[in-house]
Amino acid sequence: MERYFVYVVTFLLILHLVQAQNQTGFISVDCGLSPLASPYNAPETGLTYTSDADLVNSGKTGRVAKEFEPLYDRPTLIMRYFPEGVRNCYNLNVTRDTNYLIKATFVYGNYDGLNVVPNFDLYLGPNLWSTVSSNDTIEEIIHVTNSNSLQVCLVNTGISIPFINMLELRPLKKNMYVTQSGSLKYLFRGYISNSSTRIRFPEDVYDRKWYPLFDNSWTQLTTTLNVNTGITYELPQGVMAKAATPLEANETLNITWTIEPPTQYYSYVHFAELQNLRANDTREFNVTQNGIYTFGPFSPLPLKTASIVNSIPQQCDGGACILQLVKTLKSTLPPILNAIEAFSVIDLPQMETSNFTVVGIKNVQDTYGLTRISWQGDPCVPKLFLWDGLNCNSSDISTSPIITSLDLSSSGLSGIITQAIMNLIHLQKLDLSGNNLTGDIPAFLADIKSLLVINLSGNNLSGSVPPSLLQKKGMKLNVKGNPHLVCTAGSCVNKGDDGHKKKSVIVPVIASIVSIAVLIGALVLFFILKKKRSPKVEGPPPSYMQASDGRSPRSSEPAIVAKNRRFTYSQVVIMTNNFQRILGKGGFGFVYHGFVNGTEQVAVKILSHSSSQGYKQFKAEVELLLRVHHKNLVGLVGYCDEGVNLALIYEYMANGDLKEHMSGTRNRFILNWGTRLKIVLESAQGLEYLHNGCKPPMVHRDVKTTNILLNEHFQAKLSDFGLSRSFPIEGETHVSTVVAGTPGYLDPEYYRTNWLTEKSDVYSFGIVLLEIITNQPVIDKIRVKPHIAEWVGVMLTKGDIKSIMDPSLNEDYDSASVWKAVELAMGCLNPNSVRRPTMSQVVVELNECLASENARGGASRDMESKSSIELSLTFETEVSPTAR
Ligand SMILES: *[C@@H]1O[C@H](CO)[C@@H](O)[C@H](O)[C@H]1NC(C)=O
Ligand SMILES: *[C@@H]1O[C@H](CO)[C@@H](O)[C@H](O)[C@H]1NC(C)=O
Ligand SMILES: *[C@@H]1O[C@H](CO)[C@@H](O)[C@H](O)[C@H]1NC(C)=O
Ligand SMILES: *[C@@H]1O[C@H](CO)[C@@H](O)[C@H](O)[C@H]1NC(C)=O
Ligand SMILES: *[C@@H]1O[C@H](CO)[C@@H](O)[C@H](O)[C@H]1NC(C)=O
Ligand SMILES: *[C@@H]1O[C@H](CO)[C@@H](O)[C@H](O)[C@H]1NC(C)=O
Ligand SMILES: *[C@@H]1O[C@H](CO)[C@@H](O)[C@H](O)[C@H]1NC(C)=O
Ligand SMILES: *[C@@H]1O[C@H](CO)[C@@H](O)[C@H](O)[C@H]1NC(C)=O
Ligand SMILES: *[C@@H]1O[C@H](CO)[C@@H](O)[C@H](O)[C@H]1NC(C)=O
Ligand SMILES: *[C@@H]1O[C@H](CO)[C@@H](O)[C@H](O)[C@H]1NC(C)=O
Repeated sequence: MERYFVYVVTFLLILHLVQAQNQTGFISVDCGLSPLASPYNAPETGLTYTSDADLVNSGKTGRVAKEFEPLYDRPTLIMRYFPEGVRNCYNLNVTRDTNYLIKATFVYGNYDGLNVVPNFDLYLGPNLWSTVSSNDTIEEIIHVTNSNSLQVCLVNTGISIPFINMLELRPLKKNMYVTQSGSLKYLFRGYISNSSTRIRFPEDVYDRKWYPLFDNSWTQLTTTLNVNTGITYELPQGVMAKAATPLEANETLNITWTIEPPTQYYSYVHFAELQNLRANDTREFNVTQNGIYTFGPFSPLPLKTASIVNSIPQQCDGGACILQLVKTLKSTLPPILNAIEAFSVIDLPQMETSNFTVVGIKNVQDTYGLTRISWQGDPCVPKLFLWDGLNCNSSDISTSPIITSLDLSSSGLSGIITQAIMNLIHLQKLDLSGNNLTGDIPAFLADIKSLLVINLSGNNLSGSVPPSLLQKKGMKLNVKGNPHLVCTAGSCVNKGDDGHKKKSVIVPVIASIVSIAVLIGALVLFFILKKKRSPKVEGPPPSYMQASDGRSPRSSEPAIVAKNRRFTYSQVVIMTNNFQRILGKGGFGFVYHGFVNGTEQVAVKILSHSSSQGYKQFKAEVELLLRVHHKNLVGLVGYCDEGVNLALIYEYMANGDLKEHMSGTRNRFILNWGTRLKIVLESAQGLEYLHNGCKPPMVHRDVKTTNILLNEHFQAKLSDFGLSRSFPIEGETHVSTVVAGTPGYLDPEYYRTNWLTEKSDVYSFGIVLLEIITNQPVIDKIRVKPHIAEWVGVMLTKGDIKSIMDPSLNEDYDSASVWKAVELAMGCLNPNSVRRPTMSQVVVELNECLASENARGGASRDMESKSSIELSLTFETEVSPTAR
């Protein structure tokens, strides 16, 4: 008994040492694993699995249903699923020119409770790898990487939501599994055993998974002796120590399989003699495939592994393949087989966009914080998933696609023109118009040889146009509407069309005259409309109307309102898939989920017919809104204006509104103090833009937590601005078109005087601040003081900030930061609007609150703030211009 015990212990020890097996180069990703639980060692294999948080920008975490849990072990229990976007990609760092075994595991386990068989496509880079169409799938491919990054993409084909449980990469040796061309897609891998034991890592150093394979017409052979398992394929001892021969001595040993659809294949057959042969015994056989002689006569050597591999791909009749081991006449013993693997050949013909270009465009994306859902995977190919705003030349699949045009017009870009554009060395057209880009026009634009059409109009660029750009032959450069651009020595020439340098001074002047005229026209119209609608307004005009002097040339870009932003009603029906998925109900009507261009997700707000009485103003307002771009304002993608069918199409905000997160109805996740501050700061920036960045300035009129929306990266954006003039707001009757807003958030001064100013928004914003501080309802009839502002006022007289703070924050905040926020909120709520801070001041103060909280260092630990912080990282250092 004791001996036995000792034996077991040493056995375990040996096993343990084996488990410390070299995992160099292995990438083992447990998809959906929280970064907090990462890494861990899987008990069965000792493999170290990590979270996928750094490898993918989208998706949600799921878990197999309770009843399936006993069937699966740790790495497959949870998964990441992708309800948004058509193509979602994992971005893996790999070693270039390396032969990798890549495994992707998909275990459905009814994680979504819908009980449907999954069906979606799996891509390796730009090429289709497989279609996942069963409950429990492992896709495996042996593939040589051609760059330092590898993308594994899941594509929603409209049938079911894609998901993935595990992604595993194992570097192989170069001389293993060599093909003439193409990669190897796993068909099967079996070792001959009548048991049910699977063999994988650590027994198999490459983590190949061997399944037992057996037939009743065979007899099992086993050895306890050590088999030399081969230097090329390094097969596991457990695999090569088992074999079979046919029961009947004269019988051939057959292995059959089918390939659907029929494609070429490679097989790898492994042999070792396990029997102790007598002097008069011979084992000799030929190997045939599909009836055609392949190799032989062959006699495996005792306890030495030999692998017979195809040097050229094989084809089988109608996809029905047969490999046979045929005893030669001379042989006294039947043929023997130890293990066999087979792969179909998969061509991955589409070349990827060059890594240099990809690094460049990703750098552009990061620099400007662009979060377009289509910007995943290869930028250019497949064409179906071309990144929104790009055009590529990808006509020849055997060469790397090149990016020929980049259109980031009206995308809310700010900062300088990034050097990363330099990587797009084949760019022909660049449109950065209608943003808030500042700084100089960089001279490197002239270095991109093919770049001859550049639109930089409607920005805030300064300095002068580099001479090299002006002198470039054939250059069409548009720099209108950059008020700070110095036009010296004919530098503002709109070159290209005819080369008349005389136009230089005239063009910008005309441009601004024209646009001032447009602006004045718009304002006149605006006054008329306003007058018609609210005849009660007397006395001084509300301050937001005073933009009419047209001093500032800033808004004077003759806005490039895209023509294709107007949609027909039938397009709206298609877009929303016949109004299939309701996202919510607003004051104007229902909001539906939809897709524009098949990929870009949108929220479609259908304006109910009863509220469309202001529909003449609708279009004018929409045109105005289409020009408002700011990263903290929900962008209007387009609209529909067809008779009684009015719709507004907004960018989709994946994470709902702030209210849901505060009330815990969205999930049980508590937003920490730092995250709350970040959200209100971003909202304040959006509001500040409406007040100060728009000409004419806009008053939101309905600032509240349900109008602060969060995108997939928890970036906050204000919604529902601007429309308030022609559409009654939630909770408001059609009669009272003058006083609008939501009870509780309404500026008492506005209520008294009917004068609408930006300061009314500041008041409402103060209420939002109190909400994130206290997490109390704005109005609570059973509270000492029903209105939140009064309640906080009363509580603060007691001098105790803890009594008002949201208890779920667990006092995990910097109290200086909290005090400052409370003071700011109370300032915003000053009954006298003149005494309230401006939104610019609010932004400054909130920045200080956030800095103070961040300095504490302890906060921002939750995942939500983590993801948003990561996203806002920008590349400080640019890629050096190696290629010109
Ligand atoms: C692991 O294997 C790699 C390559 O096979 C080798 O370079 C490395 O030294 C090994 N590391 C350990 C700890 O054995
Ligand atoms: C991948 O490599 C890039 C560049 O070398 C690096 O910045 C990034 O952090 C790496 N990603 C991961 C997940 O290791
Ligand atoms: C796959 O899952 C569905 C839903 O859970 C179930 O109805 C079906 O029987 C499963 N099929 C297989 C082959 O396991
Ligand atoms: C497997 O084969 C061996 C040797 O023939 C035999 O002893 C054993 O019982 C078999 N096991 C099963 C599960 O059939
Ligand atoms: C095997 O084939 C040989 C030659 O054809 C024959 O003589 C022998 O009887 C066969 N043995 C069995 C067991 O069928
Ligand atoms: C193997 O294939 C041959 C030829 O197709 C056939 O005659 C033989 O019966 C097969 N053997 C077994 C065990 O199925
Ligand atoms: C081979 O030799 C053994 C004795 O060494 C004998 O028993 C057996 O019958 C022989 N077999 C054949 C096929 O001659
Ligand atoms: C095995 O292959 C050899 C060499 O091609 C051939 O001469 C022999 O006839 C084959 N034997 C059988 C049984 O197919
Ligand atoms: C692109 O790949 C090449 C070859 O692997 C490598 O030398 C180069 O550094 C890569 N460039 C970038 C920008 O990653
Ligand atoms: C544009 O950028 C400048 C400098 O970053 C900033 O001061 C200004 O507020 C921004 N304007 C808008 C409209 O975003």
